Amino acid sequence: MFLIPGIARGQAEQGHENPCAKCHSEAWRQPATNMARALETVEQTTVLNDHPVITGAYGKYSYRIERNGGQSNYSVTDGITTVTMPIRWALGASSAMGQTYILEKNGELYESRMSWYRELNGLGPTVGGDSTLPANVQEAAGRLMSRDDKLRCFGCHATNAAQGTKLTLEKMVPGVQCEHCHEGADVHLAAMSAEGGKPAVQPGFPSLRKLSAEQASNFCGQCHRTWEEVATQGIFSISNVRFQPYRLTGSRCYDPDDTRISCLACHDPHTEASARPVNHDAKCKACHGGGKAKTNSCPVSKSKCVTCHMPKIELPGGHYKFSDHRIRIVKANEPYPE
Ligand code: HEC
Ligand code: HEC
Ligand code: HEC
Ligand code: HEC
Ligand code: HEC
Ligand code: HEC
Ligand code: HEC
Repeated sequence: MFLIPGIARGQAEQGHENPCAKCHSEAWRQPATNMARALETVEQTTVLNDHPVITGAYGKYSYRIERNGGQSNYSVTDGITTVTMPIRWALGASSAMGQTYILEKNGELYESRMSWYRELNGLGPTVGGDSTLPANVQEAAGRLMSRDDKLRCFGCHATNAAQGTKLTLEKMVPGVQCEHCHEGADVHLAAMSAEGGKPAVQPGFPSLRKLSAEQASNFCGQCHRTWEEVATQGIFSISNVRFQPYRLTGSRCYDPDDTRISCLACHDPHTEASARPVNHDAKCKACHGGGKAKTNSCPVSKSKCVTCHMPKIELPGGHYKFSDHRIRIVKANEPYPE
């Protein structure tokens, strides 16, 4: 095995298995991102591996998730009746904010009522999950997933889970993989791997390199939600802080035609975003520093711009602080700008 400088051994090992790695360095980095692991199999889930027993409570119901070899069982009891179901998948990367479990019973899938949150190092009610009072132990365990739920959850968190409106779980690959974003990559791979393979850009293999800020917002918004989706659904509360395309559009910095404010100016989808504020300064200075903005300088600070202008805001019940992409001057005691 050979190593690429700057790439950790673990990452290299994952990249090594990727068929695109022979020709593209993206394939050495992307498999280590949380997006690539947005769905995990029960065997893979380090949260469940590292915590052989997890317990929690919701009203009068007690929960217990127990590891058994490479599998995990999720059970709930009201003290009289106990329901136990095997966990089939975890939605949400082990290394990220939290995960919700997909349970199975009699061939049906259920979304767990309780999710694991890193901030709690334990269980809490699933955000956006069933918040009605459970009438019995079965309801306390989780919500029966409709076909539409499955299409949506797996459609955003995994690859090849659906073909049109048909659920194809047998072909599903966990996480957001190359071909989810680069449609037609399989045909490209086959063509490039063939003897004397050459045509770099086959028909039906659209390039993502030249997206405008608006196009990038809509592209990433397929999963992170578009401005239009949030506006149409009328999510005008603090719960829209997780929808970056919507938040960014509301900032005075945003210009649909200026790529310096595109998602891709600040994020490489093949690499985890840097958590060090200073690493984002250059992105702001591309405009505030002789660039496009009229206001060139900040009267307060020359660095770590995002700490003040993209404040971290707790999503209610989410046990996670999102960076508000509505870049602005934050005023003390201001109401949340919806
Ligand atoms: C045998 C080498 C080879 C393999 C394997 C390969 N590619 Fe490529 N790919 C190329 C070459 C050569 C180009 C064209 C060079 C360029 O435009 O930068 C390219 C271009 C691309 C582009 C850029 C298209 C554009 O115009 O923006 C993407 C995206 C891409 N490949 C994705 C993939 C993915 C995903 C896989 C694995 C499923 C893969 N490639 C496998 C050689 C390969
Ligand atoms: C196919 C759906 C999908 C698309 C398209 C997508 N994302 Fe994601 N993204 C996700 C999911 C799901 C997560 C949650 C990962 C987790 O926490 O398990 C995520 C997480 C992220 C994260 C946070 C990673 C972390 O540290 O937890 C960033 C940053 C991100 N995406 C940026 C982008 C950008 C930029 C684009 C557009 C180029 C994009 N995403 C397109 C599904 C998608
Ligand atoms: C439209 C695409 C989309 C759909 C549908 C979707 N997710 Fe997600 N999910 C995301 C993205 C993007 C993130 C990362 C940012 C965030 O939390 O909003 C995420 C994050 C998560 C997380 C980690 C953060 C958290 O909230 O704890 C969990 C768990 C999760 N999703 C579970 C689910 C479940 C279960 C379903 C189905 C009921 C589902 N998701 C449906 C896109 C989607
Ligand atoms: C979340 C969506 C997403 C995923 C997953 C993803 N890509 Fe990309 N990729 C993009 C976008 C968007 C661009 C354009 C980047 C830009 O313009 O800055 C891109 C660009 C590329 C390019 C062209 C880079 C260049 O500058 O010429 C290659 C090659 C590539 N990706 C390969 C891969 C491979 C290989 C994988 C899987 C290991 C992968 N991508 C996974 C979204 C994604
Ligand atoms: C001007 C720079 C900038 C732009 C433009 C930008 N982001 Fe971010 N993004 C950040 C910073 C900074 C963070 C916080 C990183 C950290 O602290 O880990 C972040 C974090 C995220 C996260 C992790 C969850 C959160 O909210 O903290 C997601 C997902 C994300 N961005 C998606 C997007 C998408 C989608 C777009 C385009 C609509 C976008 N970003 C545009 C700078 C930017
Ligand atoms: C595409 C160029 C561009 C980028 C990139 C950009 N801005 Fe701006 N920003 C502007 C423009 C244009 C305005 C409107 C006022 C003006 O022209 O000076 C503005 C306004 C602002 C304001 C005043 C907002 C208000 O509510 O009055 C702040 C603060 C700000 N930007 C901070 C930042 C920070 C921090 C970053 C990086 C995270 C950033 N900007 C990135 C173009 C940009
Ligand atoms: C410690 C917090 C903090 C940091 C760090 C910070 N700012 Fe500011 N910024 C502020 C405050 C507060 C104001 C409002 C000042 C006022 O109105 O008197 C402001 C104002 C601004 C304005 C509007 C100026 C005007 O004349 O309207 C811009 C643009 C701006 N900042 C950009 C940046 C950039 C770019 C960076 C990083 C290089 C940065 N800020 C770092 C707190 C900060």
